[in-house]
Amino acid sequence: MLNSRHLIDLDHYTLEQIDDILTLAKMIMNKPQYYTDSCHGKVMATLFYEPSTRTQMSFQTAMLRLGGSVIGFDNPVNSSVSKGETLKDTVRVVSNYADIITIRNPYEGAAKAASMYSRVPVINAGDGGHLHPTQTLTDIFTLKETKGTLEHLTVGLCGDLKYGRTVHSLIKTLCRYPGNRFVLISTKELALPQYLKDIIVETGHQFQEIDHLTDAMPLLDVLYMTRIQQERFTSKAAYEQQKGIYVLDAPKLARAKYGLKILHPLPRVDEISQEIDDDPRAEYFNQTEYGMYARMALILHMLDGSTKQLDTIPEGDDKHYCCNPKCITQTEKYLPPAFYCHKDILVCEYCEHAVDRE
Ligand code: CP
Repeated sequence: MLNSRHLIDLDHYTLEQIDDILTLAKMIMNKPQYYTDSCHGKVMATLFYEPSTRTQMSFQTAMLRLGGSVIGFDNPVNSSVSKGETLKDTVRVVSNYADIITIRNPYEGAAKAASMYSRVPVINAGDGGHLHPTQTLTDIFTLKETKGTLEHLTVGLCGDLKYGRTVHSLIKTLCRYPGNRFVLISTKELALPQYLKDIIVETGHQFQEIDHLTDAMPLLDVLYMTRIQQERFTSKAAYEQQKGIYVLDAPKLARAKYGLKILHPLPRVDEISQEIDDDPRAEYFNQTEYGMYARMALILHMLDGSTKQLDTIPEGDDKHYCCNPKCITQTEKYLPPAFYCHKDILVCEYCEHAVDRE
């Protein structure tokens, strides 16, 4: 269902809506002085249950540059979450204080859950290893500005494709544009989840899986590097086995096309050697600025709507919970179960975990 009141998954926006946001982002980038009062009197709440530099600060500066104000927390320990307040109660209260809420939470499906209890639009700023739609807006705005198109690109994605929410969101969105091909560069342990491979195939796109970054380099129009995310592993030993396997350095870059664009959602640890930073193909620091304009455009787009009365949400049922230990329904037990059927497989609507695949 298309629903542009909240931004939980970019799939909920039509391509026309996405295009409108990118067009507005470009207009803001070219003439920021025209927009300095656009959100005068409006308040954004940033509720960050997980660390962030770019997403949180780019949303904050976006709102401030539009003339609005910002409230919120960047560590739930400093809020009443530490006293045991549920996500539902926190969001209900904050939606009385703010006109728009941006939320990051380590549990998959948390932003969707928050949107069910909010009177004002909710933006998913990252829900565990699931999705990160505003990073995708950032990424596609960067691609549009630097490659000039979102179509017929060979896109390499390297590193943590299993838990990488930025990778998941980006693939889903690029599958809505014709002719894109995906080169998936990861170890078997960090391979892309099957449901995303299914989306690539079902939307008529192609992918190949490659173990070594060196082999992939000559093929690519875009290289999307990612960090191996220590915080997503269940043990330090499992992380130690994966870290440092993929490093983009000058010898590998020498094998790439001149027109390659290198993106990274950041933060970087060691997966891009610093000698690459001044290469004209490196776009990852410019990408952070494109992200600010994309978020300014998104805020304007979303504040066009109004607050609404909350629907009555049915209470949860202990018998029907998602089996994904990282799903928000594992901790917020009042959430109503929500599943849909895809090819006879039951899928949780919060985290998109296929229940029958456990
Ligand atoms: N790209 C990104 O989400 O960065 P932060 O974790 O710093 O917000």
